[in-house]
Amino acid sequence: MAIERPASHASVRKPTTRPENPRFSSGPCAKPPVFKLDNLADAPLGRSHRAAVGKAKLKAAIEETRDLLGVPADYKIGIVPASDTGAVEMAMWSLLGARKATMVAWESFGAGWVTDVVKQLKIDADVQTAEYGQIVDMAALDYDTDVVFTWNGTTSGVRMPNGNAIPADREGLTICDATSAAFAQDLPWDKLDVTTFSWQKVLGGEAAHGMLILSPRAVERLESYTPAWPMPKIFRMTKGGKLIEGIFVGETINTPSMLAVEDYLQALDWARSIGGLTGLMARADANAQAIFDFCVANDWIDNLAEDPATRSNTSVCLKFTDDRIADGAVFAKAVAKRLEAEGVALDIGAYRDAPAGLRIWCGGTVETSDIEAMLPWLDWAFHAEIEALAQAA
Ligand SMILES: Cc1ncc(COP(=O)(O)O)c(C=O)c1O
Repeated sequence: MAIERPASHASVRKPTTRPENPRFSSGPCAKPPVFKLDNLADAPLGRSHRAAVGKAKLKAAIEETRDLLGVPADYKIGIVPASDTGAVEMAMWSLLGARKATMVAWESFGAGWVTDVVKQLKIDADVQTAEYGQIVDMAALDYDTDVVFTWNGTTSGVRMPNGNAIPADREGLTICDATSAAFAQDLPWDKLDVTTFSWQKVLGGEAAHGMLILSPRAVERLESYTPAWPMPKIFRMTKGGKLIEGIFVGETINTPSMLAVEDYLQALDWARSIGGLTGLMARADANAQAIFDFCVANDWIDNLAEDPATRSNTSVCLKFTDDRIADGAVFAKAVAKRLEAEGVALDIGAYRDAPAGLRIWCGGTVETSDIEAMLPWLDWAFHAEIEALAQAA
């Protein structure tokens, strides 16, 4: 829709206030506001991760995660290699193949998991996809198959509104990539058999390690089913048909970064100090709401997520809707570049495979005051680009 304002409105003056922290990247995400490198001084660097001090830190990372996220006591939590990708791959390669799979994708990362299962593992799978901005009808899936899905599509800004569509009495397992949801959205543990995330997302940690959370039913599958394919050491969670319990108390498969562990522990401390999960969710909601309100107030920009119930409160994806824009990708890149050059918003271009637009991280480590200070700059950059288009015509 064309906007009423003449392009000359773009002779817009630059706003006077700048965000204190212009980091709005969707991963690695902004560090907690209290972060200082000095805070990591207690990291047991140069010590074995199997020494008592290292083991205690790893165990604390697991148990504090359980506490903050409300993970049930009978679920296992492991620190695994290779960030969220490592955790998802480990789960899929270890668990899938026992029954048919349903692979669900509504953006790039989900699509990546589909490729792995269909092309690499070559498992019998029903593939369900939706376009960017939309979501698959999760209530229509067969939960007697193993269902693999992404809770919050980081590249489309479309999230599961809740877990109501997942039946409690399912026969299959649910494998959920929750990397941009954990610590920002309510995860219904009784509906999730495998949940994964990375420290680099909502808590603003480092990317080295992934978290893998297993329900008792997922453990039962691990102990009763051996996949037909070879399993590299890095993925192996069982020995002699029994779960390797050590992995889930901090005896990691291979060497972890104790600096990254310390950083995660600090982030968990901060999360507790602002009210735990409730506080984190409220901060993400407030950040996202500031952008939703901006979209309502401006008719040249809109949320990519079509159904308001599915709008992410972490990776908020936006599209430009002004019909004076001929090349959406060029325009969006130019806006993002202007904002970056001003030092007011870093890394907010849409993901490379996503529709043209912007993606602004709103997880709890971002301050609402910074989102609010950035939005007038977005208004400025938009009008400056429109003016540039008019002048070039
Ligand atoms: C939904 C989703 N899955 C997986 C990944 C990959 O995460 P990592 O690079 O931490 O392995 C990302 C990263 O942005 C993501 O958003």
